[in-house]
Amino acid sequence: MSKIVAGLIGLGTVGTGVVRLLERQNHIRLKTIAVRDIKKKREVSPSCLITENVQDIIQDPEIELVIEVAGGIEPVYSYLEAALRAGKHVVTANKKLLARRGPELFSLARAKGVNIFFEASVAGGVPLISTLQKGLNANQINSIAGILNGTTNYILSKMHSSGCSFAEALKEAQELGFAEADPTDDVEGHDVANKLSILAALSFGRFANPEQIHREGITTITARDIALAKANGCVIKLIGLGLPQENNKVELRVHPVLVPFGHPFYAVNGAENAILVNGSAVGQILLSGPGAGREPTASAVVGDALNLAQVINLPEFESFFQPKINTTWASLTEESELAFANLVRIKLLRKGADIEFVARTLLQNGLKTQIINAGEDESGYKILSLTTATQPDAIVEEALAHVPNAIVESRLRLLQNQLAAGYQRESRAPASAQQTLRGNSRALSVSC
Ligand SMILES: NC(=O)c1ccc[n+]([C@@H]2O[C@H](COP(=O)([O-])OP(=O)(O)OC[C@H]3O[C@@H](n4cnc5c(N)ncnc54)[C@H](OP(=O)(O)O)[C@@H]3O)[C@@H](O)[C@H]2O)c1
Repeated sequence: MSKIVAGLIGLGTVGTGVVRLLERQNHIRLKTIAVRDIKKKREVSPSCLITENVQDIIQDPEIELVIEVAGGIEPVYSYLEAALRAGKHVVTANKKLLARRGPELFSLARAKGVNIFFEASVAGGVPLISTLQKGLNANQINSIAGILNGTTNYILSKMHSSGCSFAEALKEAQELGFAEADPTDDVEGHDVANKLSILAALSFGRFANPEQIHREGITTITARDIALAKANGCVIKLIGLGLPQENNKVELRVHPVLVPFGHPFYAVNGAENAILVNGSAVGQILLSGPGAGREPTASAVVGDALNLAQVINLPEFESFFQPKINTTWASLTEESELAFANLVRIKLLRKGADIEFVARTLLQNGLKTQIINAGEDESGYKILSLTTATQPDAIVEEALAHVPNAIVESRLRLLQNQLAAGYQRESRAPASAQQTLRGNSRALSVSC
């Protein structure tokens, strides 16, 4: 293995882990580190130059590799563009940047005969990128879906285990360092949309504009939603889902979903990530592990750098690491064409209301449903839980609006397509969850 000379931009959470791992190996010499504020106290004392001037890295002809763990779009895009133009390889953990400027960066890297490595940008320490790029090279990807954000998975797991509200779970996540002071990117699903854009590039050949990806966060999930999920033997997870469509479009969506007992995502708790990839030859594979954090993310970053060191002296090694990504943006399925199956909880305000009438009204308005539970609340009002067929939201909302004297108390997405195959109908609610059902309950299934 050759010894390569590297510069590091950023010495925060991930950068500190990177420095520690680099100190334990002999194949990469860290020459310079650029930070924003040179006076800041650090947890590591590297022996190399520390500077506030990134040009000390970009303009140093001896530096062959720039490792970027600073984050954000500008000025980092300009730094990496200059580094690529100067013929340097790049390792980055920056999903926000790649999701928005990936097409430009990868086409520049290709033109310059250098590589961008980005294992840490999705699912932290889980080797997902190299699995898609290398391990599944012989496959067409039929679907990719994942729990891709540790913060939201921690919050939802906490809401399930304690019955607390979203606000209480978020506060605890912030106190324990699982959520940022400003959690918007995580809890509104922006972070998952960025990661899904990168996964779309690797799985379906094009980055997707994250702003165009259907996105729902978890801020509106209530303790009642969690209780409804539990009563049906499910947990709620925020997932990112990618499906190629026949018309050369890609369906990409980020939203919370009910995951039934027995599904591989059901037991993925806390800050863990998990990803299901369905390949044309391999079938379905599951990858899971720590999706963020200092050491897991540094493991992916330094792994990328070591992979480069292994091959840098081989002739034309660059093409081996060039991802097959088109430089135009993906064309996404229109919002109005996206269809969802739902679990809906309805309260009937007219005492003695007729359940069959509700089902008939919904059907007359174009919505096939299956009533899975009918009971009463403490005040004697009828409460119905029903699943809807897979339909666009506009049809579901219109049909529900036609049920007289009714309040929709919860509407939760169900797993669909390949993701649900083999799990939905076989799922069994744990005994404790089944006991919480009242009235005529049936196993949760989608009639679609
Ligand atoms: N944290 C994770 O678990 C994790 C997981 C996966 C991916 N990532 C990605 O990794 C990247 C870094 O995340 P992090 O959590 O380590 O961030 P962080 O703790 O905020 O650290 C950022 C570092 O970058 C430096 N920096 C920021 N802007 C700079 C600039 N313009 N020039 C030079 N240095 C600059 C900062 O310098 P000062 O210290 O002087 O302010 C700081 O050292 C982000 O892209 C993030 O999305 C993080």
